[in-house]
Amino acid sequence: MNNLITIDWQNAKEFISEAEINAYKPFVKDVHKIIAEKSGQGSDYLGWHDYPEKILENASEITKIEECVNKLKDEVDVLLVVGIGGSYLGARAVIESLSHHFYNNKKDFRNGYPEIYYIGQNMSAYYIKDLFDFMRDKKVAVNVISKSGTTTEPAIAFRLILQKMKKNYSDKELKNRIFATTSDSSKSALKNMADDLGLTTFFIPDDIGGRYSVFTPVGLFPICAAGIDISSFLKGAVDMQHVLSNEDLSANVAHLYSVIRNINLSKGKSVELLASFHQRMFYILEWWKQLFGESEGKNKKGIFPSSAIYSTDLHSLGQYMQDGMRILQETFLEIENIKYPSCQIPKAENDLDNLNYLVGKDIDYINAKASQGTQKAHRDGSCPNINLNLKELSVYSVGALLYFFMKACASSGYLNAVNPFNQPGVEFYKKNMFDLLGKP
Ligand code: PA5
Repeated sequence: MNNLITIDWQNAKEFISEAEINAYKPFVKDVHKIIAEKSGQGSDYLGWHDYPEKILENASEITKIEECVNKLKDEVDVLLVVGIGGSYLGARAVIESLSHHFYNNKKDFRNGYPEIYYIGQNMSAYYIKDLFDFMRDKKVAVNVISKSGTTTEPAIAFRLILQKMKKNYSDKELKNRIFATTSDSSKSALKNMADDLGLTTFFIPDDIGGRYSVFTPVGLFPICAAGIDISSFLKGAVDMQHVLSNEDLSANVAHLYSVIRNINLSKGKSVELLASFHQRMFYILEWWKQLFGESEGKNKKGIFPSSAIYSTDLHSLGQYMQDGMRILQETFLEIENIKYPSCQIPKAENDLDNLNYLVGKDIDYINAKASQGTQKAHRDGSCPNINLNLKELSVYSVGALLYFFMKACASSGYLNAVNPFNQPGVEFYKKNMFDLLGKP
């Protein structure tokens, strides 16, 4: 487990030194302590730190989720997950990183588990109308997720869905098909609605914020409904928590990642691009952007998080990465052991495409060379980059990876002297929108 995630910073060595990293040791010790002792800014939102362990030990919540999923499994075609931000991205990141690219939403392929679709994360009429068209003949279940229970986008989506479902299902059937995940507070309109409709409800602990909530029912219910083993997912997080319990910077990859990116920031590298050569990681990168963006971007500080899927984006952002403004640092999220049947380049007699030099080489080998070539090119173009190596892509390792990022994010926010657990800036657009809509 100790080497499930490793960092190789060879391609950053021209830009930062061992001595600069070591100089952070005392700060890292302090940061480690205030996270462990819950004594820093916003520490009443540090419930995520040992939550995977707690929920695994007290299995009742897991059992409740699994029982609900087992009941709905063969009854419905589709699960609509309604949520935005931290109430949406974590589940999607896990599900899509572990699912077939093209059969992802084929129920047969999922052993009877429902197809999963997402709504409430945007208010585009095209998206909502298209999804409703698509749902017309399907048997539907819903997991509506909002910690505050008052967020406008998912609330509107849920109202629209409820209106449609009420036409097709009796009140009793609705109770078996709609699951709410929210806080146990009367301030949550969603909780009040769930009580009124008699829905099964899962609660989000008060001390866990949205973007740190993937290990709570916020993530667990949709992930379980996709047929993914949530106990292994949690076990990955718990084991990573233990690995990261070491306060020593040289033995703690989360702090090392946090320190390297902050040293880069101090040298003007204020944008971090998280890149993967695997399309499946797309939503992991989206989740990461939200985690770091909302956690660090405040008080006019923070690294701007961006992401890219290569090779696709080598033919769009690649030019800027190589030679645009030198404000960039890059992290390559690598998967070391690809457990997939090999796909080797076949021989062509005439070699008209000039590819015979690759005969017998696996596509993954070629992809890895593309990655190494890109890392070297970007380093030579003055973009410091590191490799974040994930030993394998499995439900266990994804649990570990997400926990790793959460810990690194808390560490990085505290190193930068910001509260990594609030998001006051998000309120500004809401206020303007409500004014424009004439909200009473
Ligand atoms: O990280 C956060 O706290 C936010 O991104 C929230 O998850 C997001 O705003 C959705 O909030 P809620 O779950 O209250 O609907």
